[in-house]
Amino acid sequence: MQELLTFVLILSISSTCLCRGLVEDTSGGFNVLDYGAVGDGQTDDSQAFLKAWTALCQTKGTPQLIVPSGKKFLLMPVMFQGPCQSNSVQVQILGTMLAPNSMDGWTNCSINCWLGFSGVSNLIVSGSGTIDGRGSTWWNQVYNDQALKFNYCNNLQLSGLTHLNSPRNHISLTACNGASLSSLHISAPASSPNTDGIDISSSTNINIHDSNIATGDDCIAINGNSAHINITGINCGPGHGISVGSLGANGAYATVEEVYVNNCSFNGTLNGARIKTWQGGSGYARNIFFEQITLVDVKNPIIIDQFYCNGKYDCKDETSSVQVSNVTYIGIEGTCVGLDAITFNCDEIMCTNITMKHINITSSDPEKSVVASCENAEGNSECTIPEVPCLTVNECDNRK
Ligand SMILES: *[C@@H]1O[C@H](CO)[C@@H](O)[C@H](O)[C@H]1NC(C)=O
Ligand SMILES: *[C@@H]1O[C@H](CO)[C@@H](O)[C@H](O)[C@H]1NC(C)=O
Ligand SMILES: *[C@@H]1O[C@H](CO)[C@@H](O)[C@H](O)[C@H]1NC(C)=O
Ligand SMILES: *[C@@H]1O[C@H](CO)[C@@H](O)[C@H](O)[C@H]1NC(C)=O
Ligand SMILES: *[C@@H]1O[C@H](CO)[C@@H](O)[C@H](O)[C@H]1NC(C)=O
Ligand SMILES: *[C@@H]1O[C@H](CO)[C@@H](O)[C@H](O)[C@H]1NC(C)=O
Ligand SMILES: *[C@@H]1O[C@H](CO)[C@@H](O)[C@H](O)[C@H]1NC(C)=O
Repeated sequence: MQELLTFVLILSISSTCLCRGLVEDTSGGFNVLDYGAVGDGQTDDSQAFLKAWTALCQTKGTPQLIVPSGKKFLLMPVMFQGPCQSNSVQVQILGTMLAPNSMDGWTNCSINCWLGFSGVSNLIVSGSGTIDGRGSTWWNQVYNDQALKFNYCNNLQLSGLTHLNSPRNHISLTACNGASLSSLHISAPASSPNTDGIDISSSTNINIHDSNIATGDDCIAINGNSAHINITGINCGPGHGISVGSLGANGAYATVEEVYVNNCSFNGTLNGARIKTWQGGSGYARNIFFEQITLVDVKNPIIIDQFYCNGKYDCKDETSSVQVSNVTYIGIEGTCVGLDAITFNCDEIMCTNITMKHINITSSDPEKSVVASCENAEGNSECTIPEVPCLTVNECDNRK
């Protein structure tokens, strides 16, 4: 919340000083090389990028920031601030953007991220380039920064790029209404901590599709105050799966609804379809759909955990909890490397109206079998293997 307020402040300050020096419509590209960027991977090109951005942001028409191919641009943490004069701003990334190689380079990071866009509507970021967070020096630290962050960017389009080795989340969306993220390649080692692929908070009408995500944490995480999130055609793995939450940390009120995860695969992930909430929170996660999912060697393919604790704190069993209801799983097939194919670990407030159809999860080891466990959950299942004890089992009609 404090972070949100800071951004509102930055927004209001910057919008007052944009009116001077309005540049005529050039409709052209703003190539960072023309603003002094060197692109040798050694020189700090941050100021050149900011100069190019400032010029572009004061231009009407459809200005385009161009990051040319065949070069590596070393950037310190920078914030690309809107609103801009143009209704639509494009950023074409063909080359590589490199984060500082040492922790010293991040000392001035006031925005909790390396590359930030704030208050820019109708922003289109695309290209075949690479965003390299060089995060490995950070992975054993307590506090890490996120690589690419969008705040208050309505109708964002992000496509085509390769995102590597972020210190923390690779891509974060906060307070964005309307976004399409597609054809992304996100990659960090399975062992790198907290390197979520895409992290969504306080955002609505988000469409993420046709991307490969391999990281050390959630491939996609949907955090509080988010709704209408469609996720299709994602290959996730390694990673911790596609997660709703964690919700309700530190007693927070959190809501997530209308989430559709469709036609995705999980290969070698810790979790598949996951909902996680902390004890002591409030709010709800409802109308969540996981459909047409393929599993290869997943440890916890389907899991709802209302006692999420992240292994860090001594979490107590509290009286309140984020309410989980209307969760539907249809067409989920494949293999599990552990024993627990399906785990519904809910507290006394109950997870209600869970619907399962056409689920077939078997052990990766043909000698072994898997189980479903169920605590404080209710709903219906049909054609579901393994059978879930606390759900009402309906007749399996395989023709449907
Ligand atoms: C941090 O920012 C301040 C103010 O912009 C600047 O004077 C200083 O040189 C920066 N330090 C580093 C290490 O970049
Ligand atoms: C999500 O998918 C549904 C069904 O295909 C569609 O009606 C809805 O507009 C989509 N929402 C977004 C944000 O893409
Ligand atoms: C499912 O996603 C894959 C990408 O992983 C895509 O190639 C395929 O066309 C999608 N299938 C459907 C039915 O949408
Ligand atoms: C799963 O990942 C492994 C290891 O990367 C790979 O060898 C295998 O082909 C993948 N399986 C599928 C079905 O994608
Ligand atoms: C249970 O959830 C499904 C899917 O959202 C919905 O269609 C159905 O109406 C719900 N049933 C109740 C009793 O809420
Ligand atoms: C569950 O879904 C049904 C049908 O969409 C809806 O009527 C009901 O209000 C939902 N329940 C909750 C708790 O959202
Ligand atoms: C479930 O999957 C296993 C492994 O692929 C397969 O042998 C079995 O026939 C499937 N069961 C059903 C009912 O589809």
